[in-house]
Amino acid sequence: MIKIINQIIGTNKLDIIFRIFKKISPLENLYYFLKSEIIKKISLEYPPYSLEIHNNIISTSWDPIRYGIIALAINTIKKEKIKGHFAELGVFQGNTSKIIHHLAPEKKLFLFDTFEGFPAEFLENKGDSERFKNTQLEWVKKNIGNLNNIFIRKGIFPETTEGLESETFAFVYLDADLYKSTLEGLKFFYPRISKGGYLLIHDYHNPQESNAGVMRAVNEFMTDKMEKIIELPDVLGSIILRKL
Ligand SMILES: C[S@@+](CC[C@H](N)C(=O)[O-])C[C@H]1O[C@@H](n2cnc3c(N)ncnc32)[C@H](O)[C@@H]1O
Repeated sequence: MIKIINQIIGTNKLDIIFRIFKKISPLENLYYFLKSEIIKKISLEYPPYSLEIHNNIISTSWDPIRYGIIALAINTIKKEKIKGHFAELGVFQGNTSKIIHHLAPEKKLFLFDTFEGFPAEFLENKGDSERFKNTQLEWVKKNIGNLNNIFIRKGIFPETTEGLESETFAFVYLDADLYKSTLEGLKFFYPRISKGGYLLIHDYHNPQESNAGVMRAVNEFMTDKMEKIIELPDVLGSIILRKL
C-alpha cells in the first residue's frame, strides 16, 4: 500500500483520492491512517517536544512544517524562560489556537478575531468579503477545550487590544491575511515582544492572499528594524523572527 502511495505522491491525484476517501465513511479510518503515514515521513525524526504533541501535529494537520516550527519555538521559549504572554491574531475556528494552547497551557493566550469574517473596512478586494464567516465563538471555545488561560478578544483588531498596552509577549502568531490587519498586528505586537520572543507570520509567500498583502505589510514594517525575517518552506510560506 505504501509503495502505491509513494508512486502517486508528487501528483495532484493524491489530494483528489483523499477527498473521495473522506467522503465515503468506511474509508475514513483508512484516510486518516494514510495521511499520518505520509505526514510522518516529512516530520521531525527526533522532536525535542513530547511524543503526544508530535503525534498531535501528525494527526491534525497537512502542514507539519508550520506546526513543527510553532512547537519548536514554544519549546525554546519554555527552555529559555522567555517572559510574556502568547497571542494569535486571526483565529477563525481555533485549530491553531488549540495546538498553541496545548503546547503551553500555563501561558496566557490572547485570541483576536471578529469571529464573523474579515472587517469590511480592511478589505482591498471585495471578493474576500464572505470568507472566514463560517465560525462562531462557541464552536471555537469547544474546539480549544480547556479554556484556562484563554483570553478571547472578539472584534476588530486593533480596537480589541485596549487594556493590553503594558503587556509583553513571548510568542505572537499573525494569521490575519490582510495587509492592514497584518500591519496593525506588527505595530501593536512588535514593540511588546520580549527579547528572544518569537513572531511568526503566516502567508508571507502567498501571492493569492489579498494581493500579497502580508508580504507588503511585513516588508514595509521591517525596513528599519534590527531583525531580519527568515522565510520558511511550509505550505503557505510563513516567516519567523526572534526579537533582539
Ligand atoms: C486565515 S484565518 C485564521 C486561521 C487560523 N489562524 C488557523 O490557523 O486556523 C484569518 C482570520 O483573520 C481574521 N481577521 C483578519 N483581520 C482581522 C481584524 N482586523 N480583526 C479581527 N479579525 C481579523 C478573520 O476574521 C479570519 O478569521
